[in-house]
Amino acid sequence: MSIPHFRSADSSASTHSRPTTAKVTLPHLQEKKRLGQPIAALTAYDYASARLVDESGIDLVLVGDSLAMVVMGLDSTLAVTVDEMLHHTRAVRRAVRRAVVVADMPFGSYHASLAEGVANAVRFVKEGGAEAVKVEGGRNRLELVERLVDAEIPVIGHLGLTPQAVHRMGGYAVQGKTLRAIDELTRDAVSLEHAGATAVVLEGIPREVARRITAELTIPTIGIGAGPDCDGQILVFHDLVNLSFSKPAKFVRQYGDAAALFRAAVEGYRDDVAGRSFPGEAESYHLAKEERLALEERLAMDERAMDERLSAKLVLAR
Ligand code: KIV
Repeated sequence: MSIPHFRSADSSASTHSRPTTAKVTLPHLQEKKRLGQPIAALTAYDYASARLVDESGIDLVLVGDSLAMVVMGLDSTLAVTVDEMLHHTRAVRRAVRRAVVVADMPFGSYHASLAEGVANAVRFVKEGGAEAVKVEGGRNRLELVERLVDAEIPVIGHLGLTPQAVHRMGGYAVQGKTLRAIDELTRDAVSLEHAGATAVVLEGIPREVARRITAELTIPTIGIGAGPDCDGQILVFHDLVNLSFSKPAKFVRQYGDAAALFRAAVEGYRDDVAGRSFPGEAESYHLAKEERLALEERLAMDERAMDERLSAKLVLAR
Protein backbone atom coordinates (compact mmCIF):
# COMPACT_ATOMS: atom_id res chain seq x y z
CA MET A 1 0.00 0.00 0.00
CA SER A 2 1.35 3.43 -0.82
CA ILE A 3 0.84 6.35 1.48
CA PRO A 4 -0.59 9.37 -0.29
CA HIS A 5 1.43 12.56 -0.10
CA PHE A 6 -0.45 14.67 2.42
CA ARG A 7 -0.01 18.33 1.71
CA SER A 8 -0.28 20.73 4.64
CA ALA A 9 -3.43 22.72 4.83
CA ASP A 10 -3.35 26.31 3.57
CA SER A 11 -3.26 28.38 6.74
CA SER A 12 -5.27 31.08 4.98
CA ALA A 13 -8.17 28.65 4.51
CA SER A 14 -11.37 30.36 5.59
CA THR A 15 -14.17 28.74 7.57
CA HIS A 16 -15.93 28.05 4.30
CA SER A 17 -13.14 26.73 2.09
CA ARG A 18 -11.28 23.78 3.50
CA PRO A 19 -8.47 22.09 1.63
CA THR A 20 -9.15 18.57 0.53
CA THR A 21 -6.52 16.10 1.61
CA ALA A 22 -6.42 12.34 1.53
CA LYS A 23 -7.87 10.69 4.62
CA VAL A 24 -5.41 8.95 6.93
CA THR A 25 -6.55 5.48 7.98
CA LEU A 26 -5.34 3.02 10.59
CA PRO A 27 -3.69 0.82 7.89
CA HIS A 28 -1.75 3.94 6.78
CA LEU A 29 -0.31 4.18 10.28
CA GLN A 30 0.83 0.55 10.12
CA GLU A 31 2.38 1.31 6.75
CA LYS A 32 4.17 4.33 8.16
CA LYS A 33 5.84 2.08 10.71
CA ARG A 34 6.89 -0.33 7.98
CA LEU A 35 8.36 2.52 5.95
CA GLY A 36 10.06 4.08 8.96
CA GLN A 37 7.98 7.29 8.63
CA PRO A 38 7.19 8.92 12.00
CA ILE A 39 3.55 9.25 13.04
CA ALA A 40 2.57 12.64 14.48
CA ALA A 41 -0.34 12.49 16.93
CA LEU A 42 -1.90 15.11 19.21
CA THR A 43 -4.84 15.34 21.54
CA ALA A 44 -7.77 17.68 20.84
CA TYR A 45 -11.01 18.18 22.69
CA ASP A 46 -13.04 20.77 20.82
CA TYR A 47 -13.94 21.89 17.32
CA ALA A 48 -11.52 24.82 17.01
CA SER A 49 -8.38 23.10 18.24
CA ALA A 50 -9.24 19.89 16.37
CA ARG A 51 -9.56 21.85 13.12
CA LEU A 52 -6.17 23.47 13.67
CA VAL A 53 -4.61 20.12 14.47
CA ASP A 54 -6.20 18.39 11.49
CA GLU A 55 -5.45 21.18 9.02
CA SER A 56 -1.82 21.18 10.19
CA GLY A 57 -1.37 17.63 8.93
CA ILE A 58 -1.35 15.64 12.18
CA ASP A 59 -1.99 11.93 11.50
CA LEU A 60 -3.96 10.94 14.59
CA VAL A 61 -6.15 13.02 16.89
CA LEU A 62 -6.83 11.53 20.31
CA VAL A 63 -9.74 12.79 22.34
CA GLY A 64 -7.82 11.95 25.49
CA ASP A 65 -9.27 11.57 28.94
CA SER A 66 -6.62 14.18 29.82
CA LEU A 67 -9.49 16.53 29.02
CA ALA A 68 -10.54 15.92 32.63
CA MET A 69 -7.44 17.89 33.65
CA VAL A 70 -6.75 20.39 30.86
CA VAL A 71 -10.34 21.21 29.90
CA MET A 72 -12.37 20.47 33.04
CA GLY A 73 -9.74 21.51 35.61
CA LEU A 74 -9.87 18.24 37.59
CA ASP A 75 -6.73 16.97 39.32
CA SER A 76 -6.73 13.52 37.67
CA THR A 77 -8.39 11.78 34.74
CA LEU A 78 -10.49 9.52 36.94
CA ALA A 79 -13.74 11.47 37.18
CA VAL A 80 -14.50 12.13 33.52
CA THR A 81 -17.53 10.18 32.28
CA VAL A 82 -18.43 8.44 29.04
CA ASP A 83 -21.06 11.09 28.30
CA GLU A 84 -18.56 13.90 28.81
CA MET A 85 -15.99 12.16 26.61
CA LEU A 86 -18.65 11.59 23.96
CA HIS A 87 -19.62 15.26 23.99
CA HIS A 88 -16.03 16.22 23.14
CA THR A 89 -15.50 13.35 20.71
CA ARG A 90 -18.47 14.57 18.65
CA ALA A 91 -17.06 18.10 18.54
CA VAL A 92 -13.68 16.79 17.39
CA ARG A 93 -15.31 14.47 14.86
CA ARG A 94 -17.10 17.44 13.24
CA ALA A 95 -13.77 19.22 12.81
CA VAL A 96 -11.50 16.44 11.61
CA ARG A 97 -11.52 15.38 7.97
CA ARG A 98 -8.06 13.95 7.45
CA ALA A 99 -6.63 12.48 10.65
CA VAL A 100 -7.66 9.28 12.39
CA VAL A 101 -9.95 10.15 15.33
CA VAL A 102 -9.41 8.02 18.44
CA ALA A 103 -11.53 8.23 21.59
CA ASP A 104 -10.08 7.44 25.00
CA MET A 105 -12.22 5.08 27.09
CA PRO A 106 -12.46 6.81 30.49
CA PHE A 107 -11.84 5.18 33.84
CA GLY A 108 -14.73 2.90 34.83
CA SER A 109 -16.07 2.51 31.30
CA TYR A 110 -14.37 -0.86 30.69
CA HIS A 111 -13.39 -2.03 34.15
CA ALA A 112 -16.58 -3.63 35.47
CA SER A 113 -17.24 -6.14 32.71
CA LEU A 114 -16.30 -7.02 29.14
CA ALA A 115 -19.89 -6.48 28.01
CA GLU A 116 -19.93 -2.98 29.45
CA GLY A 117 -16.55 -2.22 27.85
CA VAL A 118 -17.79 -3.31 24.44
CA ALA A 119 -21.08 -1.41 24.85
CA ASN A 120 -19.25 1.79 25.77
CA ALA A 121 -16.77 1.40 22.91
CA VAL A 122 -19.70 0.96 20.51
CA ARG A 123 -21.04 4.32 21.75
CA PHE A 124 -17.74 6.02 20.92
CA VAL A 125 -17.92 4.69 17.36
CA LYS A 126 -21.66 5.07 16.86
CA GLU A 127 -22.40 8.32 18.70
CA GLY A 128 -18.96 9.92 18.73
CA GLY A 129 -17.72 8.96 15.27
CA ALA A 130 -14.43 7.57 16.61
CA GLU A 131 -12.42 5.31 14.32
CA ALA A 132 -10.73 3.54 17.23
CA VAL A 133 -10.76 3.54 21.03
CA LYS A 134 -7.84 3.56 23.45
CA VAL A 135 -7.74 1.54 26.66
CA GLU A 136 -5.08 1.53 29.36
CA GLY A 137 -3.50 -1.69 30.59
CA GLY A 138 -1.71 -4.81 29.40
CA ARG A 139 -2.38 -8.43 30.26
CA ASN A 140 -5.55 -7.42 32.15
CA ARG A 141 -7.04 -6.04 28.91
CA LEU A 142 -6.33 -8.81 26.41
CA GLU A 143 -9.82 -10.30 26.46
CA LEU A 144 -11.34 -6.85 26.10
CA VAL A 145 -9.10 -6.06 23.13
CA GLU A 146 -10.11 -9.35 21.49
CA ARG A 147 -13.80 -8.66 22.07
CA LEU A 148 -13.52 -5.15 20.67
CA VAL A 149 -11.65 -6.34 17.60
CA ASP A 150 -14.36 -9.03 17.13
CA ALA A 151 -16.87 -6.20 17.25
CA GLU A 152 -14.93 -4.40 14.46
CA ILE A 153 -13.69 -1.71 16.83
CA PRO A 154 -9.97 -1.00 16.41
CA VAL A 155 -8.15 -0.63 19.72
CA ILE A 156 -5.05 1.27 20.74
CA GLY A 157 -3.36 0.01 23.90
CA HIS A 158 -1.65 2.21 26.49
CA LEU A 159 1.24 0.97 28.64
CA GLY A 160 3.78 2.35 31.09
CA LEU A 161 2.62 5.39 33.04
CA THR A 162 -1.12 4.83 32.75
CA PRO A 163 -2.84 7.80 34.45
CA GLN A 164 -6.00 5.80 35.27
CA ALA A 165 -3.79 3.68 37.56
CA VAL A 166 -2.49 6.72 39.45
CA HIS A 167 -3.47 5.29 42.84
CA ARG A 168 -1.87 1.90 42.19
CA MET A 169 1.31 3.58 40.91
CA GLY A 170 1.33 5.99 43.87
CA GLY A 171 1.60 9.03 41.59
CA TYR A 172 2.67 9.91 38.07
CA ALA A 173 6.09 8.28 38.10
CA VAL A 174 8.21 6.93 35.25
CA GLN A 175 7.56 3.18 34.85
CA GLY A 176 9.66 0.28 33.54
CA LYS A 177 12.83 1.01 35.46
CA THR A 178 13.75 -2.50 36.62
CA LEU A 179 14.53 -5.54 34.50
CA ARG A 180 11.42 -7.26 35.79
CA ALA A 181 9.23 -4.27 34.95
CA ILE A 182 10.85 -3.99 31.51
CA ASP A 183 10.10 -7.65 30.79
CA GLU A 184 6.51 -7.25 31.97
CA LEU A 185 6.02 -4.18 29.80
CA THR A 186 7.49 -5.93 26.78
CA ARG A 187 5.33 -9.01 27.35
CA ASP A 188 2.25 -6.79 27.74
CA ALA A 189 3.00 -4.95 24.51
CA VAL A 190 3.53 -8.17 22.55
CA SER A 191 0.34 -9.67 24.05
CA LEU A 192 -1.65 -6.57 23.08
CA GLU A 193 -0.40 -6.94 19.52
CA HIS A 194 -1.37 -10.63 19.49
CA ALA A 195 -4.80 -9.77 20.89
CA GLY A 196 -5.34 -7.52 17.87
CA ALA A 197 -4.41 -4.01 19.05
CA THR A 198 -3.76 -1.56 16.21
CA ALA A 199 -1.07 0.45 18.01
CA VAL A 200 0.25 0.98 21.53
CA VAL A 201 0.81 4.25 23.35
CA LEU A 202 3.94 4.08 25.52
CA GLU A 203 3.88 6.71 28.24
CA GLY A 204 6.51 7.69 30.79
CA ILE A 205 9.09 4.95 30.27
CA PRO A 206 12.84 5.11 29.67
CA ARG A 207 13.90 5.61 26.07
CA GLU A 208 15.80 2.31 26.03
CA VAL A 209 12.69 0.37 27.04
CA ALA A 210 10.51 2.09 24.44
CA ARG A 211 13.12 1.31 21.79
CA ARG A 212 13.12 -2.37 22.74
CA ILE A 213 9.33 -2.60 22.66
CA THR A 214 9.14 -0.71 19.36
CA ALA A 215 11.58 -3.18 17.82
CA GLU A 216 9.58 -6.17 19.12
CA LEU A 217 6.24 -5.03 17.67
CA THR A 218 4.94 -4.94 14.11
CA ILE A 219 2.21 -2.46 15.16
CA PRO A 220 3.24 1.16 15.75
CA THR A 221 4.25 2.48 19.14
CA ILE A 222 3.26 6.07 19.88
CA GLY A 223 5.34 7.62 22.63
CA ILE A 224 4.76 10.33 25.17
CA GLY A 225 7.67 10.72 27.52
CA ALA A 226 9.13 7.55 25.97
CA GLY A 227 11.97 8.99 23.88
CA PRO A 228 12.51 9.45 20.17
CA ASP A 229 12.69 5.81 19.06
CA CYS A 230 8.95 5.14 19.07
CA ASP A 231 7.18 4.92 15.71
CA GLY A 232 5.24 8.06 16.54
CA GLN A 233 4.86 10.77 19.13
CA ILE A 234 1.85 12.23 20.90
CA LEU A 235 1.53 15.29 23.13
CA VAL A 236 -1.35 16.92 24.93
CA PHE A 237 -2.45 19.93 22.85
CA HIS A 238 -2.60 22.24 25.88
CA ASP A 239 0.99 21.36 26.82
CA LEU A 240 2.21 22.07 23.27
CA VAL A 241 0.77 25.60 23.27
CA ASN A 242 1.18 26.50 26.97
CA LEU A 243 -2.42 26.36 28.08
CA SER A 244 -2.01 23.81 30.89
CA PHE A 245 -1.35 26.24 33.76
CA SER A 246 1.21 23.86 35.21
CA LYS A 247 4.94 23.35 35.02
CA PRO A 248 5.52 21.31 31.86
CA ALA A 249 6.75 17.75 32.32
CA LYS A 250 10.32 16.95 31.21
CA PHE A 251 9.10 15.38 27.97
CA VAL A 252 7.01 18.37 26.85
CA ARG A 253 8.28 20.79 24.24
CA GLN A 254 6.24 23.99 24.02
CA TYR A 255 5.89 25.15 20.42
CA GLY A 256 3.88 28.25 21.16
CA ASP A 257 2.58 30.44 23.95
CA ALA A 258 -1.18 30.59 23.51
CA ALA A 259 -1.57 31.73 27.11
CA ALA A 260 0.43 34.90 26.39
CA LEU A 261 -1.36 35.43 23.08
CA PHE A 262 -4.85 34.97 24.53
CA ARG A 263 -4.07 37.01 27.64
CA ALA A 264 -2.83 39.95 25.55
CA ALA A 265 -5.92 39.74 23.33
CA VAL A 266 -8.34 39.66 26.28
CA GLU A 267 -6.54 42.49 28.09
CA GLY A 268 -6.55 44.58 24.90
CA TYR A 269 -10.29 44.06 24.53
CA ARG A 270 -10.88 44.93 28.19
CA ASP A 271 -8.91 48.19 27.80
CA ASP A 272 -10.64 49.18 24.55
CA VAL A 273 -14.09 48.65 26.09
CA ALA A 274 -13.04 50.67 29.14
CA GLY A 275 -11.67 53.46 26.89
CA ARG A 276 -14.71 53.32 24.55
CA SER A 277 -12.49 52.67 21.55
CA PHE A 278 -14.27 49.40 20.86
CA PRO A 279 -16.41 49.05 18.88
CA GLY A 280 -15.39 51.68 16.35
CA GLU A 281 -17.05 52.93 13.18
CA ALA A 282 -15.79 50.00 11.13
CA GLU A 283 -17.19 47.52 13.65
CA SER A 284 -20.67 49.13 13.65
CA TYR A 285 -23.63 48.47 11.39
CA HIS A 286 -25.23 51.45 9.63
CA LEU A 287 -28.63 52.27 8.21
CA ALA A 288 -28.99 52.93 4.52
CA LYS A 289 -29.06 56.67 3.70
CA GLU A 290 -32.85 56.85 3.18
CA GLU A 291 -33.68 55.14 6.49
CA ARG A 292 -31.04 57.18 8.32
CA LEU A 293 -32.55 60.47 7.11
CA ALA A 294 -36.06 59.27 7.96
CA LEU A 295 -34.90 58.27 11.43
CA GLU A 296 -33.14 61.62 11.97
CA GLU A 297 -36.33 63.43 10.91
CA ARG A 298 -38.38 61.26 13.31
CA LEU A 299 -36.00 62.02 16.19
CA ALA A 300 -36.09 65.78 15.41
CA MET A 301 -39.91 65.67 15.38
CA ASP A 302 -39.99 63.79 18.70
CA GLU A 303 -37.64 66.39 20.17
CA ARG A 304 -39.80 69.28 18.93
CA ALA A 305 -42.93 67.64 20.33
CA MET A 306 -41.23 67.15 23.67
CA ASP A 307 -40.13 70.83 23.74
CA GLU A 308 -43.65 71.95 22.94
CA ARG A 309 -45.14 69.79 25.74
CA LEU A 310 -42.56 71.19 28.14
CA SER A 311 -43.33 74.83 27.18
CA ALA A 312 -47.09 74.18 27.58
CA LYS A 313 -46.50 72.75 31.07
CA LEU A 314 -44.41 75.81 32.03
CA VAL A 315 -47.16 78.22 30.83
CA LEU A 316 -49.77 76.35 32.89
CA ALA A 317 -47.56 76.35 35.94
CA ARG A 318 -47.17 80.17 35.92
O1 KIV B 1 -5.46 11.26 27.67
C1 KIV B 1 -4.44 11.52 27.02
O2 KIV B 1 -4.17 12.66 26.64
C2 KIV B 1 -3.55 10.41 26.69
C3 KIV B 1 -2.27 10.74 26.04
C4 KIV B 1 -1.33 11.26 27.04
C5 KIV B 1 -1.70 9.60 25.31
O3 KIV B 1 -3.84 9.31 27.01
